[in-house]
Amino acid sequence: MAFATRHFVRAASSDAATAAAKKLLIKHVTIIGGGLMGAGIAQVAAASGHTVVLVDQSDEILKKSTKGIEESLKRVTKKKFADKPEAGAEFIKNTLKNLTTSTDAASVVHSTDLVIEAIVENLEVKNKLFKTLDKFAPEHTIFASNTSSLQITKMANATTRQDRFGGLHFFNPVPMMKLVEVIKTPMTSQKTFESLVDFSKAVGKSPVSCKDTPGFIVNRLLVPYMMEAVRLFERGDASKEDIDVAMKLGAGYPMGPFELLDYVGLDTSKYIIDGWHSLEPNNPLFAPSPLLNKLVEEKKLGKKTGEGFYKYK
Ligand code: NAI
Repeated sequence: MAFATRHFVRAASSDAATAAAKKLLIKHVTIIGGGLMGAGIAQVAAASGHTVVLVDQSDEILKKSTKGIEESLKRVTKKKFADKPEAGAEFIKNTLKNLTTSTDAASVVHSTDLVIEAIVENLEVKNKLFKTLDKFAPEHTIFASNTSSLQITKMANATTRQDRFGGLHFFNPVPMMKLVEVIKTPMTSQKTFESLVDFSKAVGKSPVSCKDTPGFIVNRLLVPYMMEAVRLFERGDASKEDIDVAMKLGAGYPMGPFELLDYVGLDTSKYIIDGWHSLEPNNPLFAPSPLLNKLVEEKKLGKKTGEGFYKYK
């Protein structure tokens, strides 16, 4: 029995060692898309010691992204190194040293371990990008998408590396939000999945895993909840102000659903719900809302346009 136990322990630990040896240690990351999400991901990856190349369509956009990262780093540093300004300055210097930019994705992926895509939420555009990069990236390189609402499997199928393809869904604002959803398609290998989990931890996040299902975990619960709030308001059952107060004081949520919709962007929310509605037209949770559609048509998209459900001027 003692022998059997010892043997089992030895076998289990050597299995774990073999699995760990097989995992890819991600050191060099290429991030495509220097917008809200891509810049945030580049920041946390560079700050945690990875070599990062941030790619976008023009130098002008990349200049803006870099400036945004610098400002965000200053804010982080002010808190993190409140009593040690010199260590803070060193942290910013080292982070920026790890970060370079490019407008030519194909030419920079030759030595990368991981490509994270954070471009426009359009399947055709994403597939075109992945198809191109598949030709230029080395065999070991893992591809990941930060999509909120598209199927990872469909993107993986645009490449020849379905086993080295997964989802890495970060949350906005990336430097503040601790969660990453790591998405495993039926083709994602265990080694790829574990490498993505390890990378998420290495950038200081808490990973959770989910299958390639609409909305993954957070949005699958959050978007129908916000849509139910809109329907409650549309029916005249309660005012939007009271619904927001109710969910903050009664459920302990930091923001009410209408405040959250305005923060996320009404166009983004409509895009997500329309996509899911087309996949499952009979699911009442995914039914479109006439009021949300009207506000989007009027370009009242939330905080970013100065007006959504509320006015911000
Ligand atoms: P964004 O509009 O702020 O940034 C997208 C960037 O991609 C732009 O700078 C654009 O110039 C660039 N771009 C577009 N096509 C490109 C191409 N072919 N090559 C290189 N760069 C290209 O968008 P955001 O909000 O950062 O979203 C990016 C992705 O992240 C989307 O898939 C979105 O669904 C997802 N996401 C967004 C969240 C959010 O709260 N905004 C949260 C989680 C995921």
